[in-house]
Amino acid sequence: MSSNNVVKARSNFADRNPGSRSHYDEARKYMPGGQTRSVLTHAPFPLTFASGSGATLTDVDGHTYLDFLGDFTAGLLGHSERRVLDHVAEALTHNASVGGIHPAEATLAKLMCERFGLDRVRFTNSGTEANLLAMTTAVITTGRKKIMVLSGGYHGSVFYFASGNAPWNAPFDFVITPFNDEAAALQAITTHASTLAAVVVEPMLGSGGCIPASPQFLTSVFQAARNVGAVCIADEVMTSRHGSSGMMNMLGIEPDIAAYGKYIGGGFSFGAFGGKAQFMDMFDTSPESNRPSPVAHGGTFNNNLSSVTAGCKVLGEVFTADIAVAHTARGDEFRQAIAAVIARSGAPVSVTGFGSMMSLHALATPPVSPTDIANRDIELQELLFFGLLERGIYIAARGMVNLGLAHTDDQLAQFLDALAETLTTLN
Ligand SMILES: Cc1ncc(COP(=O)(O)O)c(C=O)c1O
Repeated sequence: MSSNNVVKARSNFADRNPGSRSHYDEARKYMPGGQTRSVLTHAPFPLTFASGSGATLTDVDGHTYLDFLGDFTAGLLGHSERRVLDHVAEALTHNASVGGIHPAEATLAKLMCERFGLDRVRFTNSGTEANLLAMTTAVITTGRKKIMVLSGGYHGSVFYFASGNAPWNAPFDFVITPFNDEAAALQAITTHASTLAAVVVEPMLGSGGCIPASPQFLTSVFQAARNVGAVCIADEVMTSRHGSSGMMNMLGIEPDIAAYGKYIGGGFSFGAFGGKAQFMDMFDTSPESNRPSPVAHGGTFNNNLSSVTAGCKVLGEVFTADIAVAHTARGDEFRQAIAAVIARSGAPVSVTGFGSMMSLHALATPPVSPTDIANRDIELQELLFFGLLERGIYIAARGMVNLGLAHTDDQLAQFLDALAETLTTLN
């Protein structure tokens, strides 16, 4: 594939999007890179969106796209889920920023505990913070410092392990072990047995390319970690949408603490961490607590009314456990349909994923590790992205595709047609 094709695709994109270009140029004066969320970066510049409705997004140049990114899983509900938006709007007429308790907090906490099998939960503002607090809980309760993570993992802006320990990561003492490599992980746990506070896993690498971890790998890593007294943390920020109680539950593996976020906030910023009382109750600063030194967990917006109210509606009505089960199955079917389109095309492209989360890769064979992802044909990957955009489909530049609740069967068929057409241009 010649790079001329990429140059042409970028230039066609720039010609079609003068409005997004001028937003980008203006934004660059005030924000490094013209935006405040690095994952949105792609050449020549990202689109600026003016509005969304259901499963569609319209940019400032008036192009309407089928949104198959779903805000990296946070946009599960689509852009106009009235039940959530109206509920939040109504709540905000009574109160906005409350320096006190409001009833929705306990309602959401109960919904989360019952849904995900948690003893206790606490809220944060993001998935990053949820993981930060989960790791902190492990460090304090064990009195140890090391945190084992998997290569290719992403647990938030300061927990980035795509290629080693990123220089901007939070200063925990990380041990990085290869993803899906059971022998290496068990060896690392043995080596660091007496200093290991926690292992943190994503049951499927999300940002790392929608590569599921093998259940055998996860089971034995958690078992070995428990045997040496380390805390088992599951990052379900993306994957809690799967099945009735999240992906770990589907695999039959129980974490000590899990992190949540994304779609639960119904479009509002959200994070939560929760799990076994023996760990979570260290945050009990109440007068009833008999703890000599409970740990404080502050955060002005931890209980913010909009996110918490939205979360109640999301888990209580819009995305119930039954709907989640059906959505996971629909996602599996959609991914199989994508794989069939790819197979018919003969293009060196593959799809991986689980349930409603998936990723397209410019690799003839589906990747099973972050090392495979590193071998993607980056030009082909970019052409795939631009090819779909030109046909009215918006996905992540890096290939992520998420099925949302608002997608109709017709829209799924449109995606498959656009993909088939795009693939013919890549051969
Ligand atoms: C698995 C996982 N954990 C944590 C995070 C961080 O969540 P947030 O962006 O809300 O801080 C993300 C975000 O993409 C994620 O995919």
